[in-house]
Amino acid sequence: MHAARQQQYLQALGIELWVARAPPAGAPATAPPPADTAAAWEGLRREVAACTRCALHATRTQGVLGVGPRRCDWLVVGEAPGAEEDRRGEPFVGPAGQLLDAMLRAIGLDRTSNVYIANVLKSRPPHNRDPRPEEVAACMPYLLRQVALLQPKIMLAVGRIAAQNLLGTEAPLSRLRGQVHRFGEFNVPLVVTYHPAYLLRTPQDKRKAWEDLKFARGLYQRLTGGGDGHGT
Ligand code: URA
Repeated sequence: MHAARQQQYLQALGIELWVARAPPAGAPATAPPPADTAAAWEGLRREVAACTRCALHATRTQGVLGVGPRRCDWLVVGEAPGAEEDRRGEPFVGPAGQLLDAMLRAIGLDRTSNVYIANVLKSRPPHNRDPRPEEVAACMPYLLRQVALLQPKIMLAVGRIAAQNLLGTEAPLSRLRGQVHRFGEFNVPLVVTYHPAYLLRTPQDKRKAWEDLKFARGLYQRLTGGGDGHGT
């Protein structure tokens, strides 16, 4: 990434300096997904578009499955679509999404190339209220199918709601940060950080979010021997 642009992303995060690591020589290129994987994604997209598994289908504009490459090492999971996401059909495209993009770019990730972004809920709760347990239970099978297809090497849960629902805990976010969790039966390493909407309201915590991102990046590098975030 161009150094000046990276500096802009870091400034958006309230971070002064970050030194880029070059991708390792001979890093594997992204392989196209096999045809049956493409069909599985298409089936998932159709099911979410037509989903009536919970009452949210009555108030949403559309189901929001996710965005990103169909196979990649990084999976970011948020809470649920907001108003802008509900309108446009893509996760994290409102103001919080712009900050999330800046956060991800600061560690070399981009939704068009090497990170998939999804939510626990695929439908917007009215007035952005917290997801209800029955809504999470109804929607979780979609996320599990996404994980099975993506085969991520690392997951990043953004915000308390995502973290608690992915980890099946009621522990506060402060206790969940700074450690490596495992996601369900897939056993995918999972790191927790603040939700970008919270960071917009509480910019003094951006520095802690940056610590979380560096922690996640370091974990990923240890897991992959220094990969650059592209899938295999
Ligand atoms: N907040 C979320 O958790 N997800 C989105 O997609 C948008 C805002």
